[in-house]
Amino acid sequence: MEVRLSGRTAVVTGGASGLGRAIALRFADEGAFVVVGDVRREPREGGATTEELLGDRGQFLEADASRWDDLDRLVSTAVERGGRLDVMVNNAGIAGRYSKPLLETEEEDWDAIMAVNLRGVFLGCKRAVGQMVEQEPVGEVRGRVVNISSQHGMIGPPGHVAYAASKGGVVNLTRQVAVDYGPRGVLVNAVAPGKILTGSPEQQAPETLAYSHARTPFHRLGRPDDVAGAALFLASDDSGYVSGINLLVDGGWMAY
Ligand SMILES: NC(=O)c1ccc[n+]([C@@H]2O[C@H](COP(=O)([O-])OP(=O)(O)OC[C@H]3O[C@@H](n4cnc5c(N)ncnc54)[C@H](O)[C@@H]3O)[C@@H](O)[C@H]2O)c1
Repeated sequence: MEVRLSGRTAVVTGGASGLGRAIALRFADEGAFVVVGDVRREPREGGATTEELLGDRGQFLEADASRWDDLDRLVSTAVERGGRLDVMVNNAGIAGRYSKPLLETEEEDWDAIMAVNLRGVFLGCKRAVGQMVEQEPVGEVRGRVVNISSQHGMIGPPGHVAYAASKGGVVNLTRQVAVDYGPRGVLVNAVAPGKILTGSPEQQAPETLAYSHARTPFHRLGRPDDVAGAALFLASDDSGYVSGINLLVDGGWMAY
């Protein structure tokens, strides 16, 4: 079977669980060597760890995506292994207890979300693009960045001020970096997931599920593999002329 990332190296932040885990495993299935960073090892949804499932197709490092030194270690590990970094996936993101309406949001909530969701993507782009512009192109492309944004970066989702602002920042950061580094052969895109079922079923609030079903025209909510497929497209030669986009994977949420 032909694989689409044969001989490529990739970094995925937040790859112990959920979407990052699905992306890392899909990339490895397609022949990439995948360096996964996360602040935890065990998947939030349970089951075997990403590290176990990757085996010798990748490496897991404890790494906080809001810290330059940790992103540096992730990229350096990929470069040591493959001589280059082909794909950077800035996926790590948080919301949870920090995500509230404006008047309930304390400065600490804002800073916690921004540190991972926006500063982390900025630092990940900076470290990855710095590497990519120094390496020889494969075909016409020196490297590819895939940022994980959200449909909530394009609208005002009720009750999530810092999260929405952070994801809106990711959408425009993606465009901006695509513009600055396209001339040097770096393709930079985002994937905007709609409601994707991650974590364990007990972690899903019934009111959030009901809202998501009401907003999603397709007859089911998303699966992590739906997002992995879009990330694979943007990571592979299939998307050779695609840059600066925010690819919705949302079952039609934003068309509503
Ligand atoms: N699931 C959805 O419906 C959905 C929708 C839109 C956007 N997203 C975005 O997709 C991304 C992944 O979401 P998910 O649903 O898989 O979440 P998840 O909580 O299931 O997994 C996120 C992973 O990131 C890790 N992480 C958290 N903070 C980190 C840090 N500072 N450094 C490194 N790793 C860290 C967590 O430990 C966890 O393993 C996030 O950016 C999220 O905002 C998700």
